[in-house]
Amino acid sequence: MPDITPEAAKPGIDTSRPHPARMYDYFIGGKNNFAADRETAEKMLVAQPGARTGARENRGFLGRAVRYLVEEAGIRQFLDIGTGLPTTNSVHEVAQAIEPAARVVYADNDPLVLAHAQALLRSSAEGRTAYIQADLRDPAAILADRVVRETLDFSQPVGLILVAVLHFIPDEDNPAEILATLLDALPSGSYLVASHSTAEHAPRDTMSAGVSAYRSGGVTLRLRDSDEFADLALTGLRVVPPGVVPVSEWRPESDGPHPSAAEVATYGAVGYKP
Ligand SMILES: C[S@@+](CC[C@H](N)C(=O)[O-])C[C@H]1O[C@@H](n2cnc3c(N)ncnc32)[C@H](O)[C@@H]1O
Repeated sequence: MPDITPEAAKPGIDTSRPHPARMYDYFIGGKNNFAADRETAEKMLVAQPGARTGARENRGFLGRAVRYLVEEAGIRQFLDIGTGLPTTNSVHEVAQAIEPAARVVYADNDPLVLAHAQALLRSSAEGRTAYIQADLRDPAAILADRVVRETLDFSQPVGLILVAVLHFIPDEDNPAEILATLLDALPSGSYLVASHSTAEHAPRDTMSAGVSAYRSGGVTLRLRDSDEFADLALTGLRVVPPGVVPVSEWRPESDGPHPSAAEVATYGAVGYKP
């Protein structure tokens, strides 16, 4: 049972239509979702049974990439756009467990994420976390935001996190320009962590059925293959080994068998801004 009811939702939150944040929450086993989200998510699971595995593997990738940035690259501040509903292993939890002084600004365009943002603000005493409601399609507004400017020091390297969000940006919204605007604002030594849904390993009709399931709920999903993802996210960056790989293959922590690329259907990569 969900721990929120439609009646409990804040004004401005439309619970009658599915939303990516709540569908993703459903896939990773969260409770912040409504009937419309579950219905579309279940349609998606019929079309693409690996969707749940993909979501969980994606979340694991996010944690490993943040740990890599703090432990091995010395990154101390993060801008996480397309945060999702609070769940375990949020960026500040992973980063501050290693470096308590780490700072994180979260941004999402879903009012429901805003309603739950309090859970993202439980920073360590030494560090800082902040949340802004913002749209990735307006990167200039994010960069100019007072909270962002007060929390992050743009003269020092930043870890920009765009995990499982770029596939919600269709080509007509100029995702490459969005990336360029964000990366231009970051100093050399900064990193990008990105992941992206793909149909490259799955039968076309399976994935297009998944895309249709999303579309029937009013959610646009633009799948990209590895070259399209790399062109979009990694142009001008040095790609950190192992490169563009299924998220489950990005520096896995166990030697055990990993789900197949077709099941995961999500690429992940980390890029360094020289
Ligand atoms: C699949 S969830 C990913 C959550 C988290 N990044 C992770 O990977 O675990 C995608 C999130 O992106 C958000 N989102 C989608 N389009 C967005 C946009 N244009 N601007 C900001 N956030 C967006 C959704 O509201 C949702 O919370």
